[in-house]
Amino acid sequence: MARIIAGVASSHVPAIGAAIDNKRTEEPYWKRVFSGFEKSKEWMAKAKPDVAIVVYNDHASAFSVEMIPTFALGCAAEFPPADEGWGPRPVPVLKGHPALAAHIAQSVILDEFDLTIVNKMEVDHGLTVPMNLLFGQPKDAWPCPVIPLAVNVVMYPPPTGHRCYMLGKAIRKAVESYPEDLNVVIFGTGGLSHQISGPRAGLINSKWDKSFLDNLTRDPKKLTRIPHIEYMREAGAEGIEMVMWLIMRGALDDKVDEVYRFYTVPASNTAVGHIILENRRKAAGKSRPAGRSKTTSKSKAAGKSRQAAARKATHRIASKGTR
Ligand SMILES: [Fe+2]
Repeated sequence: MARIIAGVASSHVPAIGAAIDNKRTEEPYWKRVFSGFEKSKEWMAKAKPDVAIVVYNDHASAFSVEMIPTFALGCAAEFPPADEGWGPRPVPVLKGHPALAAHIAQSVILDEFDLTIVNKMEVDHGLTVPMNLLFGQPKDAWPCPVIPLAVNVVMYPPPTGHRCYMLGKAIRKAVESYPEDLNVVIFGTGGLSHQISGPRAGLINSKWDKSFLDNLTRDPKKLTRIPHIEYMREAGAEGIEMVMWLIMRGALDDKVDEVYRFYTVPASNTAVGHIILENRRKAAGKSRPAGRSKTTSKSKAAGKSRQAAARKATHRIASKGTR
């Protein structure tokens, strides 16, 4: 059985991608941002997911204003980086997981969430920047297949936070009914508070952001009741991206362990937020190395010891997390 072991949320500021691509990560301005993800990369290297589901929004790269699906699931075998105006980012083509994606599409659509199925799609910074922040900048290949889930937060009306949260629950149900033994990490991306145009351009509301992060861990249902107008008022026009974090949160247990958090302002004109939440039931799950289809007693024992090591590591991270 497949299972969701953890959720990761991260801003996807395009300037972070540009800083990586132009080798500016050691400059003091950017070092402050990237240093907040060092522990996260260590966590991810230990978690070693078999698949990542990345909830993000397209920024007129794959979909123009002529056609904007509310929820679009990437079912292709691969997803090339999009040309966002200055050539595609120098990141590897993302490999998909068509079998799991098709299974999720079937399960979720039969649960009455009307996803758009996408069999060809390029992905922009909304997806590639969080991948960099958690997996680094690989030369040839990303360490695991990715299933993109694009959400409309660029043209009114976006989905409600409650709809997103419930979609997360449906995705979890889908993953848990997939027969292959896979560990899945789900990403929520975007945010935090920012507004990129108009009289309030540059708006950042750290108090509201931190309250959102607190509730994401402790009381996500409270967040599902936030109306769009509150996101707009408090977190800026682009703060609405934060509804995507609720898909990630809906896919997790009601009670989770917050193993890491990072928040800094600004990066470009945006507040950067990041959190890692683990499901408490994760240790009951996978007991074999990634890529094998059979479970043996030897691999079970190895899996348990890896899980124990990962748990130790995450507790160490939790004690050092920045808020
Ligand atoms: Fe965005």
